[in-house]
Amino acid sequence: MRKSLVAGNWKMNGNKSSINSLMDGLVNGLNSNVEAMGSVDVLVCPPAVYLQQVADKVSTSSIKVGVQNVSEYESGAYTGELSLAMLADFNCDYVIVGHSERRSLFGETDAQVAEKCQAALEAGVIPVLCVGETLEQRDSGQALAVVEAQIDAVLKCCGIASFSKLVVAYEPVWAIGTGRTATPEQAQEVHGAIRAVLAAADAEVSASVRILYGGSVNAVNAAELFSQPDIDGGLVGGASLKVDDFLAICSAAAAA
Ligand code: PGA
Repeated sequence: MRKSLVAGNWKMNGNKSSINSLMDGLVNGLNSNVEAMGSVDVLVCPPAVYLQQVADKVSTSSIKVGVQNVSEYESGAYTGELSLAMLADFNCDYVIVGHSERRSLFGETDAQVAEKCQAALEAGVIPVLCVGETLEQRDSGQALAVVEAQIDAVLKCCGIASFSKLVVAYEPVWAIGTGRTATPEQAQEVHGAIRAVLAAADAEVSASVRILYGGSVNAVNAAELFSQPDIDGGLVGGASLKVDDFLAICSAAAAA
C-alpha cells in the first residue's frame, strides 16, 4: 500500500504575513482532523527564504517541509544557488526537482535534473521528480515517449533502487496553472506507463513508488484524480495557497 502524499508548491508567492496565516490555517486544520488525515502525508514547499518561518510553524504538526529547487553542486561559486548542506540546517525533507518551470525558464536538462536527484538522494533529501509533456508534444502523440525519456534519464544516472527513495510527479505542462486539468483517464494512462517503465527494471520498486499528479488540481477535481489506481496524491500549485482548498485536497487524498 502506498501512502498518499499531497505537496504544495507555493512557487514565488507569499510574504511573512500571508505565510503566517496560511501555516496557522493548515496546522489547525490538519491537527483538528488528525485521525482522518493520518493516511496522507502533507508537504509544503515555500520559497527558501521562508524555510525557517515555516519550519517553526510545523513543529506542532506532521507537515513536512521542502524546497522548490536545489543546486547539484556541493558549494562554491554558484551565485544565487542553494546547497543541500544548507537545507540540512532547516529540517528540510524534500526538494522538488525538474519542475517544468525550471526546465523551460531556467534551461534545466534531463541530465541536470538527474544529477540534482542524485545529489539530493546522497544528502538524504527526498526528490520530488517532476516529469511531463508540453501540449505540442501531446498533440503530436509523443506524451508517453517524452515522459519515459525523462524517467529514463534518472534511471540511467541514479539506478532503479533510487526510485524506492524518491517521489515522481507527473505534471503535463499544458495543465500547470491553466485551469485545464488532465482528465483522470489521461493522467492514469501516463501514471501507468511510468509504473510500467519502472516495473521493467524492478517490479517491487515500481509498486512502491509514489506517483503524484500535478496540473490545476483543485478541491473539486482532486477526489476523482486520486481515485485512479496509479495516482498517489498531488503536487498542487495555485490551490496550495488557499487554506480551505489545500485542506480539501488533503482530505480527498486521505479518503482515496
Ligand atoms: P498548479 O501548479 O496547481 O497551479 O497548476 C502545479 C505545479 O506547478 O506544481
